[in-house]
Amino acid sequence: MSLRTIATQPFPDQKPGTSGLRKKVGAFRQPHYLENFVQAIFDSIAAPQGATLVLGGDGRYYNRQAVQIILKMAAANGFGKVMVGRGGILSTPAASCVIRKYKTFGGIILSASHNPGGPDGDFGIKFNSSNGGPATETVTEAIFAKSKTISQYRILDAGDIQIDALGNSMLGEMTVEVIDPVNDYAELMKSLFNFPAIKALLAEGFRIKFDAMHAVNGPYAVEILQRRLGAPADSLMNCVPLEDFGGGHPDPNLTYAHELVEIMYGDNAPDFGAASDGDGDRNMILGKKFFVTPSDSLALLAANATLVPAYSKGLAGVARSMPTSAAVDRVAEALNIPCFETPTGWKFFGNLMDAGKVTLCGEESFGTGSDHVREKDGLWAVLFWLNILAVRRQPVEKIVYEHWEKYGRNVYSRYDYEGLPNDAAQGVMSHLQASFGTLSGASFGKYTIKLCDDFSYTDPVDGSVSSKQGVRIIFSDGSRIIFRLSGTGTEGATLRIYLEAYDADISRHTLDAQVVLAELLKIALDISQLRQRTGREQATVIT
Ligand code: G1P
Ligand code: ZN
Repeated sequence: MSLRTIATQPFPDQKPGTSGLRKKVGAFRQPHYLENFVQAIFDSIAAPQGATLVLGGDGRYYNRQAVQIILKMAAANGFGKVMVGRGGILSTPAASCVIRKYKTFGGIILSASHNPGGPDGDFGIKFNSSNGGPATETVTEAIFAKSKTISQYRILDAGDIQIDALGNSMLGEMTVEVIDPVNDYAELMKSLFNFPAIKALLAEGFRIKFDAMHAVNGPYAVEILQRRLGAPADSLMNCVPLEDFGGGHPDPNLTYAHELVEIMYGDNAPDFGAASDGDGDRNMILGKKFFVTPSDSLALLAANATLVPAYSKGLAGVARSMPTSAAVDRVAEALNIPCFETPTGWKFFGNLMDAGKVTLCGEESFGTGSDHVREKDGLWAVLFWLNILAVRRQPVEKIVYEHWEKYGRNVYSRYDYEGLPNDAAQGVMSHLQASFGTLSGASFGKYTIKLCDDFSYTDPVDGSVSSKQGVRIIFSDGSRIIFRLSGTGTEGATLRIYLEAYDADISRHTLDAQVVLAELLKIALDISQLRQRTGREQATVIT
């Protein structure tokens, strides 16, 4: 076994996006591509000699090969130990849990989240710091800078190491500890929620359906929902993880989780339905023929938090990403706790949680979480809902309607235009930015624009500034239209339009969101010239 230093050339495109570096598998398989990025991480984070790293991923195609490369590079870069999930598997929240529990220097997570997998699909990699959360922008910028000047990387010349049986082995001077990917996470969940109450609810015939979408959360759901909480086996679907997610798009929304949606909207539907994504950090919550928007779900969890043992003493504060609806703001106001508005991406919540300023946070993109880890957490959200249901003993939709009755309804929808030519998408954003002057104060039917700007965020903990985080059009009645370019896509550009209208009138609470938002959508398309500039009539996905 010898340490080799390999000469390499920089790749110009290794800029981490909203959540790490994501590219097609083919890009990652180019000679030196993964290695360059991993060396750029190691060079940027300056881990002390002998430090411990956590390593795992969502099990998608290329996960196993990448694990072997990273282990050999970690050994050649002076790490003392790598804790790797058996089979190279760790869900994103489980990786965060393990980093925190064992106080490691950080971890590397291999995932492209909800993006499709397989040889022609996507792959991704990101570094999480010792708090268990995604590296801050300062760190990801440093990694990108390194990737642009890299000239060599270090790797151990060794055979592949076994990662399929628990226990320790040596790779040069470094210990490789293969850990159970589920156990630490399951123990953490048990410590947060009222498992006996949920168990009793399920034993009384309350029927649930959980869809792991052939992705990483399958084994976690089997252990927690089935083995520990006693849900019958047929409560779980698609719980065997596949390298290509069965050819599907492992994104838990009404479009891609249609198999579950059909069951929940069909005859004899279960009482509660939920799904999670490729790496287990997203969640979708459904009642019988009823969809809970992620923004409402966050608000509901905040309003009901004291029913859960871990949050029984109340919340320090809450946070949401800017495009997420302001439903949780209303709960925060009623609870008299602070509510923070951050740019899109989980990395912005970490500092707030580390500083003890927020307990719960969430995004409209089916992400909800708390300070139990530093990632969003799909199964955690499912268990939170089950805990609330076990205490309140009401149907999901009843709980939501009661919430709207008390706080009003933030009617919400997101329109995604995927695979647009970069220039056209950029053109829409530039056109909007150039229109701020004329738009300010303009009226469209019942809507008058109060403010339009490009969202900028100053982190209240470290003072760092993130600008150009999305165009906001805010109306005098609090309704909003947001435009943003995605930072996670791997093909062309994805433009997102987020629509939100506030409605306190309970007689309108059964209306379909699209009906309520039709006028705002028309305004959004008009002022952005989206159709003319992109030639696209319809959104690719509406959530
Ligand atoms: C998307 C979501 C964002 C989420 C991210 C990672 O990013 O919109 O809320 O944090 O995926 O799951 P985007 O593609 O919009 O940059
Ligand atoms: Zn994810």
